[in-house]
Amino acid sequence: MEMGGFPFYLVLSLPVLLTCILMSINKRKTKQRPKLPPGSMGLPYIGETYKLYSRNPNVFFSTKEKRYGKIFKTNLLGCPSVMLTSPEAARFVLVTHAHLFKPTYPKCKEQLIGPSALFFHQGDYHTRLRKFVQGSLSLEAIRNLVSDIETIAISALESWSGGHIVNTYEEMKKFSFNIGIFTIFGRLDAKYKEELKENYLILDKGYNSFPSILPGTLYKNAVLARKRLSQTLSEIICQRKERRLEEKDLLGRLMNATDEKGDILTEDQISDNIIGVFFAARDTTASVLTWILKYLHDDPTLLEAVKVEQEAIYEQNDKGSRPLTWAQTREMPLTYKVIQESLRMASIVSFTFREAVADVEYQGYLIPKGWKVLPLFRSIHHNPDFFTDPESFNPSRFEVAPKPNTFLPFGNGVHACPGNELAKLEMFIVVHHLVTKFRWEVVESKSGIQYNPFPVPQGGLRAKFWKKSSSNNGN
Ligand code: HEM
Repeated sequence: MEMGGFPFYLVLSLPVLLTCILMSINKRKTKQRPKLPPGSMGLPYIGETYKLYSRNPNVFFSTKEKRYGKIFKTNLLGCPSVMLTSPEAARFVLVTHAHLFKPTYPKCKEQLIGPSALFFHQGDYHTRLRKFVQGSLSLEAIRNLVSDIETIAISALESWSGGHIVNTYEEMKKFSFNIGIFTIFGRLDAKYKEELKENYLILDKGYNSFPSILPGTLYKNAVLARKRLSQTLSEIICQRKERRLEEKDLLGRLMNATDEKGDILTEDQISDNIIGVFFAARDTTASVLTWILKYLHDDPTLLEAVKVEQEAIYEQNDKGSRPLTWAQTREMPLTYKVIQESLRMASIVSFTFREAVADVEYQGYLIPKGWKVLPLFRSIHHNPDFFTDPESFNPSRFEVAPKPNTFLPFGNGVHACPGNELAKLEMFIVVHHLVTKFRWEVVESKSGIQYNPFPVPQGGLRAKFWKKSSSNNGN
C-alpha cells in the first residue's frame, strides 16, 4: 500500500529501524576487538633484535616489564612478537592452550637439524615421536646408564687434570656429546664416533652463521656436514639391521617404531631426530655444568658442604673403589638443591618461541595469528615475588618447593624437555667425582657472561684441575 507516493510501511517500521541501528552501535561498542599489547616495535626490519642479543637478556626483559607490564610486544628479526613474563601466561601458551601455538624456528636452522625432528612438530606426529624419545630417556631407561656415565665422567675429569688450563665449557660440551652418543647408540665403533663428532662440530659452527649457500661459508659447510652426518647414520642403521639386534637405546626404539598402520619411520625421520637430540642435549647440559662449577668455586662454604655430602657416599663405596649406584644418585639432597639453583640462576634457556595459529585473546589483549609468542622463563626465575633476592645464589631456597609454574628450566607442557632426568643424572655424577677426587681453580674469574647463544661464564670458565692424590704438592 502507498500513501501519496510514500511507502506507508516505511513510516511504520522507522522506529524499529532506528532501534536496530542504535542496538548495533551499542553492540559494536561493547564487543570491541581486543587491543594489541603495549610495547615498542623498534627499527624497521630488525626490530629490537640487537637490544635483546647484544647484552644481558635480563636487562632487556626487566626494562620492558617495568615499562609495559607482564605482556608486551616487540619485533625480533622482522617478526612481530609478544613476550610474556608471568607463570600464568607461560602455562596458557605451553599447557592449557598449547594447540593455539605451534613451535616455530627459522627455516635455515630447521634445515640444518632436520625438518622431521620432533621439536618442529605438533599433533599426531609429535605425540608418536615423543613417546619413543621419552621412552629412551625415562627413569627406567637411564637408571641403567649410571656406570657408563660414570666411566665417561671420570675419563673426562682425568683428561683435564694436571694443572693445564682447560676451557670448562668446551670440555663439558665434549663430555655431554659423549653421553649423547652413548644414550642414542649404546656402544658404537670408534670410527663412527669420530665421524659424528667431526661433522657435528662443523654443523655447530655454521648453525648461528648467516645462511649463505656460497661455497666455503660457515653455513654451506654446515649443510655439507649435515649430509655427511646422514650418511654415517645410514651406515650405522644398516649395520644394526644386518645384526638384527633389538636394542633399547634411542636408535633401537626409533628403528622399531611403528604407527597404527604398521608403518615404520623413514631413515630421514630417524636421522633428523637423532641430530635433534644431540642439538637439544649438548650445549644445554654443558652450560649448566659450567655454571655449577663456577657457583661452587665462588662459594667455598657451599663447596665444603657439598664435599661432606659426596664424601659420605665415597666412603660408603670404599673410597670410591665401588661404582656409584642409581639409589645413591637419588640421595644427594644438597647437590640437588645446588643443581636446581644453578638452573634457576643461569636460566640457560631464557625463553622459548611459539607462533599463534589463530588470533588469540589473552587477558584482554590480542595476539594476532602469525605473531611469535615468547614465554620468558628467565624473567619468571628472576622475579622477587617468586624467588626472594633473586640475584643471589642460594640453594637453600629449594628447601621449600617453588610455587606452581614458577620453576621452568626444562619448559612445560607437551614440548617440555624429555631429557631433564638424564641431564640431572649427568650433573650428579660429575659433581660426585669432581668434589671427591679433584680440586680446581678458576684461572681468570671474569665476572661477565658470554652468550653463544646460551649464557656461560665469560671465556667459558678457564680453569685448572688437579687429581687430589697428586695435589698435595700444589701441582
Ligand atoms: C640442562 C640441560 C637441559 C635443559 C636446560 C633443557 C631445556 C629444554 C627446554 C626448556 C625444552 C623445551 C623447549 C620448548 O618448549 O620450546 C627442551 C626440549 C627438549 N629437550 Fe631439553 N634441555 C636439557 C637437556 C636435554 C637433554 C640431555 C636431552 C636429550 C638427551 C634433551 C632433549 C630435548 C628434546 C628432544 C626436546 C624437545 C621436546 C619436544 O619438542 O617434544 N634436553 N629442553
